[in-house]
Amino acid sequence: MDPSRVLIFDTTLRDGEQSPGISLNTQEKLEIAQQLARLGVDVIEAGFPITSPGDFEAVEAIARGVEGPVVAGLARTHVADIDAAWNAVRDAERPRIHTFISTSDIHITHQLQTTREDVKGQARAAVAHAKQYLDDVEFSPMDATRADVEFTAEVCQIAIDEGATTVNVPDTVGYTTPQEFASLLERLNALAPGLADVVLSVHCHDDLGLAVANSLAGMEAGARQVECAVNGIGERAGNASLEEIVMLLHTRGEALGGLHTGAVTTEIARTSRLVSRLTGYPVQPNKAVVGRNAFAHESGIHQDGVLKERTTYEIMDARTVGLEANQIVLGKHSGRHALRQALEELGFAVEGQALNAAFKRFKEIADRKKQVTAMDLEALVTDEIREEVAAFSLEWFEVEDSSRRPPHATVGVGLPDGAESVGAFTGDGPVDAIFHAIDAATGFDPRLREFRIDAVTAGQDALGETSIVLELDGVTGAGQALSTDVLEAAGRAYVRALSNAVRRARAQAEEPAGERAADYVPTP
Ligand code: KIV
Ligand code: ZN
Repeated sequence: MDPSRVLIFDTTLRDGEQSPGISLNTQEKLEIAQQLARLGVDVIEAGFPITSPGDFEAVEAIARGVEGPVVAGLARTHVADIDAAWNAVRDAERPRIHTFISTSDIHITHQLQTTREDVKGQARAAVAHAKQYLDDVEFSPMDATRADVEFTAEVCQIAIDEGATTVNVPDTVGYTTPQEFASLLERLNALAPGLADVVLSVHCHDDLGLAVANSLAGMEAGARQVECAVNGIGERAGNASLEEIVMLLHTRGEALGGLHTGAVTTEIARTSRLVSRLTGYPVQPNKAVVGRNAFAHESGIHQDGVLKERTTYEIMDARTVGLEANQIVLGKHSGRHALRQALEELGFAVEGQALNAAFKRFKEIADRKKQVTAMDLEALVTDEIREEVAAFSLEWFEVEDSSRRPPHATVGVGLPDGAESVGAFTGDGPVDAIFHAIDAATGFDPRLREFRIDAVTAGQDALGETSIVLELDGVTGAGQALSTDVLEAAGRAYVRALSNAVRRARAQAEEPAGERAADYVPTP
C-alpha cells in the first residue's frame, strides 16, 4: 500500500450516534452510510451491534446495502459482543470487527474491576475469537493516553500476535497533547515491534479542542488510519472532525510529506448537511470547512482582496468542498420529470412511490415558494427520508394567535392504531400551545430540552427547518421537520421527536435488566 495514504475511518454512525439526543433509525443510518460511500471513506463503523436490536439491524442493513468501504461493527472483548458484531457485518463486501478493552488502571480498577492479567487474557481471547470469523480485525486499547505505556504495548502486541490487522490508539477522554501523543506512539512502536506490520490508527476526542491536532501528530508519528466523524460529532465534545482531517491533508499534504486520503472532497458539504439534518445537530457558523461562514468575508479589506484574487484570503476553494456547486431552480410549473432530473443531478435516485411522495411535497412547497433551489430540494428529500418510525403523525392543526389573548392551538394527531385524537391547549406562545396540544392528544407529558428553527436558504419565503429534542421518562428523542410554515414544521418535528422518545423508552423497558443498551455502551 502507498505509505503516504491515510485511511479515513468514519465513526459518525457509532461514536457520533452516541451523542445525547441523537437517535437515527435504520433508514436514516443507511442514507448516511450511502453518502459516506460517495464521500469515499475507507471504513464505515456502522454501529455497536450488541447494544440493541435497532443497532444490530442498522449495521446489518449497511453491511448488506453499502458498497465500497469496509463495514465495521464494534464489540467489547466478550464473546457475545463479537458474535453479534460478526452476525451484523458478515454480509458486507469487506467486513471488519473492531474490538476494544481499556488498558488504563483507572478503567481497569474502577470500571472493569479486574486486573491487568485479565485484560491481557480478554484481549487475546477476543482477537482470536474474531479471527475465527474473518481476517480484518481491529483492536483498540481504550484510554491508552492515560495508561501505562509498557502495559498498553504488551496488550497491543498480544492482539497483533493473535492476528489483529489494525491497532487503534484512542485518546478516549481527549486528554493528550500533540507532542505527548506523538511520543506515546513512538514508544508503542518501539515496545511493540509488531505494530510495524499492521495499520496503526488513532482515535482522538475533542475535550480540550485538540482532536484534529492530536490526530495530525499521530499521522506524523506513523498512523495511517484516522478515526473521525462528520461535523466532529461524538461522545461529549466529539471526535476529530472528518472534514477537517480530509481538508488538512488536501490543503497541506505537501508540507506533510505527501500524506493524502482517498476522500472525494466535493462531497464534504453535502455529507455535513445530511448528517446535521438527520441528527438534528447544527453546525456552528464558524466551524472550519463546513460552517456557513467558513468562506464568507466580512471585512472590507478581505472582500476587496478576494474580489481581486481569491487566494488573497482563501486557502481553500469553496467548490473543492462542494459548496456553490448547483444552480438548479424549479418552480410551481415544473413537472415530475424535471423534479426527477434535478434530484438525479443532486445525486438522489428517486423512483416510483418515493418519487410520487417527493413530487407531492415539492408541489406543496412550490405553491408557497416561488423558487425551489437545490438546497431546498436536498432538504426536502432528507425530510422524506425521516421515516415516521413510530406511532404519531400531525394530521392537521389550527392556531389562534393575537396580541390581546393567549394563543390557542387545536391539533389532530394520528395514533398508531390509525385513529385520530384531537387535543387543544392555550399556551404562552403559538409554538408552546401546539406542543401542549400534541401532549393532550397523545397523553404524554415530555420535557422540551431543545428547540431550534433555521432557514434552509435566504429570503422571506425560505423553508423553515425545525429541530427538537425532548425527554420522556429519562429517554431523549429527537425530531426534525421542514415546511414553509414554521408552526407546521415545529408541530411535525415535535410529533417525530415524541415518536422517537416513545419508541426508545419502550425498547428500553422491554430489554431484560442487565441487558440494557446503557449497560453495554461504555463511556469512551
Ligand atoms: O473513545 C474510544 O476509546 C472509543 C473506542 C471504542 C475506540 O470510542
Ligand atoms: Zn471514542
